Amino acid sequence: MMRKAKEKPPNLAIELAGISLKNPVMVASGTFGYGEEYAQLVDLNRLGAIVAKTITLKPRLGNEPPRMVETASGVLNSIGLQNVGIDAFINEKLPFFREYDVPLIVSIAGETTDEYVQLAKTLQGEKITGLELNLSCPNIKYDRKLMFAQDAQATHQVVSRVRKATSLPLMVKLSPNVTDIASIAKMCEEAGADGVSLINTFTGMAIDIENRKPILHQITGGLSGPAIKPIALRMVYEVHKTVKIPIIGIGGIMTAGDALEFIIAGAKAVAIGTGNFVDSLTSIKVIDGIREYMVKNKIKDIKSIVGSLKCPKS
Ligand SMILES: Cc1cc2nc3c(=O)[nH]c(=O)nc-3n(C[C@H](O)[C@H](O)[C@H](O)COP(=O)(O)O)c2cc1C
Repeated sequence: MMRKAKEKPPNLAIELAGISLKNPVMVASGTFGYGEEYAQLVDLNRLGAIVAKTITLKPRLGNEPPRMVETASGVLNSIGLQNVGIDAFINEKLPFFREYDVPLIVSIAGETTDEYVQLAKTLQGEKITGLELNLSCPNIKYDRKLMFAQDAQATHQVVSRVRKATSLPLMVKLSPNVTDIASIAKMCEEAGADGVSLINTFTGMAIDIENRKPILHQITGGLSGPAIKPIALRMVYEVHKTVKIPIIGIGGIMTAGDALEFIIAGAKAVAIGTGNFVDSLTSIKVIDGIREYMVKNKIKDIKSIVGSLKCPKS
């Protein structure tokens, strides 16, 4: 009797802007700290990549509490980029990652273009895998009215200046609080970005009707979680039609099915945000679930389904 040859396990590995990932599942900035907090709970080496909490030049205490509130199928936060600052990050947080075999993408934010450039230059010689420019935090005050990612010209300027300042792979995190996210993504591509991450949170608010006051001290905050998933998915679909650089899909991913929707819509990788708070093992379960889906559907390579959405002909 002929014995059936053992099936090769499906290939989940991808290449993202020159970075080799074991699988397409990353953890999103600000929801996984600097990795240390989760290391007891999650095998970090199994993750596709880690995007660290956004770093600024100076340490930031963030906004006053209350700064988190649960909403229907989501969370509003107004943390305000609380972080240890670039020097402490390099000296105290970065050494921790030496023990791990997982790509580390460092998210940076500045109030001005010069600050972004300075941060990128400072990180250039460090042992990190890539940079993510956070142009889209809704919870800090810029010296300009709009976030960078809400202004096409400002986006182009900051991305092209950082591009010249670093040879690291460069991702740009986009805001959903715009009319046409695809045109902003196009600007990033033209300015030399290696990839776009979308989306950051939607500006929202919640009100305590008993005292008629906003629940968040900051009045407004950023909405994340399953509530935003369909909109994030639509944005990934639109951006995929517009740019050639890889897309990291983010927004409300809780299950492998959610992640696969983003991949089919055009994301080469995905990142889990709020899902880490619900269950610290969400990212691992998503990786396992994608593998099961691939075995069940006889998909040999994850790359073959990126952007494979079948739309009815118009
Ligand atoms: C508490 C909290 C803090 C966040 N901090 C950051 C941050 O520092 N930098 C950043 O780029 N995004 C930050 N985000 C946005 C997430 O990375 C992600 O883009 C967003 O939450 C949407 O994904 P999700 O629905 O899976 O959470 C934060 C989100 C939350 C909920």
